[in-house]
Amino acid sequence: MTAKRGVFLAGFALAATSGTSALAQTPISPAALERTVLEDYCVSCHNDSRLTGGLSLERIDLSRLAANAEDSEVWEKVVRKLRTRAMPPPGRQRPSEQEYESVATCVETVLDAAAAAAPNPGRRPAVHRLNRAEYTNAIRDLFALEVDGTVLLGSARDVEFKTLHDPERMPGQRSMTLDWPCVEGLRLDEARHPLTTLATGVYGQDLPNQNGAPIRLVVPWQYGSKSIKSIVSMTFMEQEPDCTWKRAAPNEYGFYANVNPEVDHPRWSQAQEWRLGEPGRRETLLFNGYVDQVAGLYAGMDLRVNY
Ligand code: HEC
Repeated sequence: MTAKRGVFLAGFALAATSGTSALAQTPISPAALERTVLEDYCVSCHNDSRLTGGLSLERIDLSRLAANAEDSEVWEKVVRKLRTRAMPPPGRQRPSEQEYESVATCVETVLDAAAAAAPNPGRRPAVHRLNRAEYTNAIRDLFALEVDGTVLLGSARDVEFKTLHDPERMPGQRSMTLDWPCVEGLRLDEARHPLTTLATGVYGQDLPNQNGAPIRLVVPWQYGSKSIKSIVSMTFMEQEPDCTWKRAAPNEYGFYANVNPEVDHPRWSQAQEWRLGEPGRRETLLFNGYVDQVAGLYAGMDLRVNY
């Protein structure tokens, strides 16, 4: 949070209560942050008169959730949009990563507390957030992957993926070109981004072996090496995973691997690309053209250092 925002929030908390000077020392309440983010980034569309998407966030009040249980549904929707970074729509001014995280966490905490205080087993939303045990089981049932649900997301910052190591069936792994098995990783906010996909098929068919069967990652704004194939494990980590290509050639391949025409590979320019089937070269677009969707993930970072 910037100092400027902090000052503004303190002022907001003060105005929203009674305005006595003792309150100037009151810590900023999470509810004030949540309200300010909605005001700054959402209410221009979701207000009582416009009702964009059939939704007004003008009056909704997190601190009164216990009294207005019917609001939980709206807050659940808001959390989903914040967690997936799906709102505001692309091209609109967006909250910072820290604001997204703090507000989503704050709303989830209040929702969880409200649900625990007044369990309502008779009615369940069609989509709900999985708890850790449910998440672990779902990943195991869907993908036959064991993930450790107890450590999930607590203080994790990154997720590490590993490829199957089986030189019998994958003869390329008999060569010493790389230190097998392949390891790749993403920051959790990159991994949670809606453009990041775990793929099991291509063109409506199951993935062929050479495309990374049975399950692979697709990160469309980063170089191909990040889209690790034939994944057998996912581990949540507090520090940056030790990625194979970065280990093999750290001056050439960084952790971020963002498609970036302005940062040359030490041995060649990355300003142009040649697409299969096209006669000539074309200019490479920053983040492969997904600037509107993903630039926010790297706000404030020096992309020449974090290449
Ligand atoms: C530029 C206008 C605009 C802004 C700003 C905006 N939204 Fe939206 N929002 C829309 C539109 C249009 C829809 C309906 C289409 C859709 O769901 O994508 C929508 C839909 C939604 C929905 C789903 C409503 C439902 O009943 O399914 C939620 C929740 C939501 N927005 C939350 C937010 C939040 C939270 C913010 C601020 C962080 C935000 N929106 C900012 C335009 C906006």
